[in-house]
Amino acid sequence: MAPSNTKQAKLNIIAQDIIDNNVAVELRQTATQLVFGEGNADADIVFIGEAPGKNEDLAGRPFIGAAGRFLDEMLASINLNRDAVYITNIVKYRPPNNRDPSDEEKQAFLPYLESQLDIIQPRLVVTLGRHSLNCFLPELQISQCHGQPKRYKNRVYLPLFHPAAALYNRSMKQTLIDDFALIPQILTKIK
Ligand code: URA
Repeated sequence: MAPSNTKQAKLNIIAQDIIDNNVAVELRQTATQLVFGEGNADADIVFIGEAPGKNEDLAGRPFIGAAGRFLDEMLASINLNRDAVYITNIVKYRPPNNRDPSDEEKQAFLPYLESQLDIIQPRLVVTLGRHSLNCFLPELQISQCHGQPKRYKNRVYLPLFHPAAALYNRSMKQTLIDDFALIPQILTKIK
């Protein structure tokens, strides 16, 4: 089996583990389905959002609504598309009424997210929004550290603003676009 297929097979097992282990069972009861993540299992870059919204819940795919279209545009601006990267969320069921995920819910999914990253072994982990950033680097503030890569425990993280938040704030949107444009240069510097 080709290496990428092996990785995808391992990712499929993690998705099934989430279901079999009844992770965040209350969220699961109100959600339509698991939104595990998708893209290239051999990707250099993994993007991590917060939790699925309504569109994602219905389709079973991450970032396919307005925020996802904006993410697609930014990917295109650096000559990438969704097939080249991997996209997922911390929390993998839609919280009711799009409320913020609780600390308990984020912690429940964290071991599975860590496993996803351990399988994919990306060179760069891009966190989208403060929930995603603070899962890995709890002491950092997104307003202070956005656009600055951080090396921590054998991984390199790039904190970015969340595309959904940036859509409704003109200056945050421009900052996100500017930070996103740094990705190719950051990648070349990572061993
Ligand atoms: N916002 C997120 O954080 N994740 C999605 O998948 C969609 C919107």
